[in-house]
Amino acid sequence: MTQAPASVPAAAPAPASAPTAATPADDAVEMAPLPGRSLTDDPQWFKKAVFYEVWVRAFRDSTGTGVGDLNGLVEKLDYLAWLGVDCIWIPPFFPSPERDGGYDVDFLTGIQVQLGTHQGMKVLLQEAHARGIRVISDFVVNHTSSDHPWFISSREDPEGPHGDYYVWRDDDTAYADARIIFVDSEESNWTFDPVRKQFYWHRFYHHQPDLNYDNPQVLEEILNALRFWLDLGLDGFRLDAVPYLVEEEGTNCENLPGTHAILKRIRQMVDEEYPGRMLLAEANQWPNEAVEYFGDGDECHMAFHFPVMPRMFMALRQGSRASISQILADTPELPENCQWATFLRNHDELTLEMVTEEERDYLWAQYAPVSKMRLNLGIRRRLAPLVDNDIRQIKLLHSMLLSLPGSPVLYYGDEIGMGDNIWLPDRDGVRTPMQWTSEGPGGGFSEANPYLFPKPIPCAPPYGIEHVNVADQQADPDSLLNWLRHTLQVRRAHEVFGLGSFRELESTNEVFAFERAQGSTRVLSFNNLTEWPQLVDVQLEGLVGRTPSVLSGSIGEAPEVIVDQYQLELPPFGYVWLLFSDPPATPVQRS
Ligand code: BGC
Repeated sequence: MTQAPASVPAAAPAPASAPTAATPADDAVEMAPLPGRSLTDDPQWFKKAVFYEVWVRAFRDSTGTGVGDLNGLVEKLDYLAWLGVDCIWIPPFFPSPERDGGYDVDFLTGIQVQLGTHQGMKVLLQEAHARGIRVISDFVVNHTSSDHPWFISSREDPEGPHGDYYVWRDDDTAYADARIIFVDSEESNWTFDPVRKQFYWHRFYHHQPDLNYDNPQVLEEILNALRFWLDLGLDGFRLDAVPYLVEEEGTNCENLPGTHAILKRIRQMVDEEYPGRMLLAEANQWPNEAVEYFGDGDECHMAFHFPVMPRMFMALRQGSRASISQILADTPELPENCQWATFLRNHDELTLEMVTEEERDYLWAQYAPVSKMRLNLGIRRRLAPLVDNDIRQIKLLHSMLLSLPGSPVLYYGDEIGMGDNIWLPDRDGVRTPMQWTSEGPGGGFSEANPYLFPKPIPCAPPYGIEHVNVADQQADPDSLLNWLRHTLQVRRAHEVFGLGSFRELESTNEVFAFERAQGSTRVLSFNNLTEWPQLVDVQLEGLVGRTPSVLSGSIGEAPEVIVDQYQLELPPFGYVWLLFSDPPATPVQRS
């Protein structure tokens, strides 16, 4: 028998009332036992996990429609287990008109027909769990699609049951201090509805009306929808766009106490009814505000650390660690039962909201010289093209991502260095089909006629399927894919990466040097941010006479620590992770 997810309660309570909820398919799924990893029963599993975001619609099409689906993801679970992923994050898979990639939901407990069924979701969860992989999904708490039956009812019948489910006003003057997020497409956070003859409030696209949490019934509906998916077996949620849940006159309508109260209520429900499941906050905020989404350990278990991400890219171009050092110094301690989520890229534009205007101009000039590469306050490009396909820089960015505090979140396709397509609209250019093989026309993504693909599969060098694909990189021991897989194995073998303390080391040059420590284990991470060789030159107390082992890096061996001042040379954009442990650790062999 395969192991049931440790976090699933024996008998989950039935939703109190779920007006629009469907019933989860309850027929059991027969499964063969699988060798390899199984789920840990650690309720704080997320603190050591490596996450992987799958854009399901572009990952693997199992039905020949040209659109990726849940069953296609099931087909690729062995690959994700091979890569060493602990948790998959799937963006919204709910019924939706897909005017915002599915973040415009019109049925909170349904599944978009093209993507699969509830039974298919159960199979995905069981097959993933059988491989020791958890699955979280997005849940859009702030808004729905304007096609949602609640909104249709609200606009048509102000006195009806959903009349107060959204934020309606007679004019568009309220909350004037709230910024517009999608600046390239929206002129106001208010839109006039000709049916109700009032304005409704929306922080994103005008077709995504914000829910009205002043109405307590709305939170009850959301809780019930969350319960529905937790009952089905999801391991948690990325709670989308959480800073904007409530509005208050005279404020910027972000991070308000009412918003935190709602998240605490959601957490309470999870703790009481589904212990071991996880909430991850998408709060694109400065560290002192982002940390509030942990509450006192009673709000979200995780929150993305948005500001550190653009600073990794800035550090590379400036050849300077100053900006990362500063933001990490500005990052408050987090509660013991919480963890940051860190990332390089995701399905959105590389957001530059959490930098100064001057820094944004610099990053745009460096990484998005052509206007088509820009979107809102960000850059709509993938990792490899951002660094001119330079594998040294891709590895260096991953070295920082995987050794800094926080649980890393990888984005599908970046593990093989996929390119982007800036000619596609909105953020579609970073959501093109996964490149599994060199074989055209579908590259292993789909057997359908490529004319059916919503986004074309890249064909041209250097990023086309003939040049960048999983199969070729699996076969090449020196590929980016095999390097990343090995580096994830190293990370998994040393829990100091997930749980250890962090301390930046004084360095006399532009090597970003820091220590992670847990008990008698110390890992030093050295990252040369420049295009020249650099001498690592750091003060190391208490390690004289010790020779570290190289866990991963651009050099094969590291010298013994002879005196407190330790020196070693790193190549351009080179990195190394050194381990001092008692007793010395056995090296992780490549497999
Ligand atoms: C998601 C975006 C989406 C927006 C509105 C975000 O933060 O990541 O993809 O467009 O929320 O739902």
